[in-house]
Amino acid sequence: MKPVRKAVLPVAGLGTRFLPATKAMPKEMLTVVDRPVLQYVVDEAREAGIEQFIFVTGRNKGVIEDHFDHAFELEDTLEKRGKTGPLEHLRRELPEAGNVSFTRQQAPLGLGHAVWCARHLVGDEPFALLLPDVIIKAERGCMAQMMDVYNEHGGNVIAVEEVPEESTDQYGVVEIDGSGDVFDVTGMVEKPKAGTAPSNLIITGRYILQPKIFGMLENQEKGAGGEIQITDSMLRLMQNEGFKGLRFNGTTYDCGSKIGFLGANVAFGLDRDDLGPQLRELAANLMK
Ligand code: G1P
Repeated sequence: MKPVRKAVLPVAGLGTRFLPATKAMPKEMLTVVDRPVLQYVVDEAREAGIEQFIFVTGRNKGVIEDHFDHAFELEDTLEKRGKTGPLEHLRRELPEAGNVSFTRQQAPLGLGHAVWCARHLVGDEPFALLLPDVIIKAERGCMAQMMDVYNEHGGNVIAVEEVPEESTDQYGVVEIDGSGDVFDVTGMVEKPKAGTAPSNLIITGRYILQPKIFGMLENQEKGAGGEIQITDSMLRLMQNEGFKGLRFNGTTYDCGSKIGFLGANVAFGLDRDDLGPQLRELAANLMK
């Protein structure tokens, strides 16, 4: 069984749900407390043992490249001023030289197409796919939990969670065989019409996929929303390869939506030793 060493992060989305904040600023760089949303996702992948990061970007996303690079003037100034704490923090978060790659999705044809754009950088090995709108607060990262499943079963793994039935039309929804936290996925559908979803278990935005998916994406027809969908290609891959679903431990925040983003700021803020107590007091006063 080949190890999962690479992660694909599709960051080409326009962020239309978050205008005007995202007019000039990539949505992935909005900050939850004091870190860009994307940094949380990269950290989750690193915790799971991922070594190489492949960003699928688009126009106006240059600041993402800068974020994952040295900032010479800044580091030099911090060093001269003896601010070793922040300096070490910055350096610690930087992926190793040569372990970050960028490719562009030249047209907004859908998530499946974005992933396909990374095919040459991934090559013939399994990879992790993390959708950076979603950040997950968990004792142990969601992707690390998925790696445990992969190491035991191989194949493909997707993280799933329950949502209220009336929300299933906003997601990819799976059909399963089995119970417990790890089970076989037997079908899936992207954004099913109200009342037609096979379950209330949705695809969270974390995947471990075998490289055969690229062959499926190559000739994938447009699906829900007129876009090339990864869900449709996974369904075809499922004819030949196993898919496990994992009901992971953790709480999901969809930072592509305003309420999810605000929730993430509160949840991660309350959890911080340096901010939590004050934030709790502030919130309590506001609610009076
Ligand atoms: C994407 C996937 C969907 C998944 C969702 C999770 O949809 O296509 O299957 O459930 O992410 O956030 P999007 O949110 O890009 O419409």
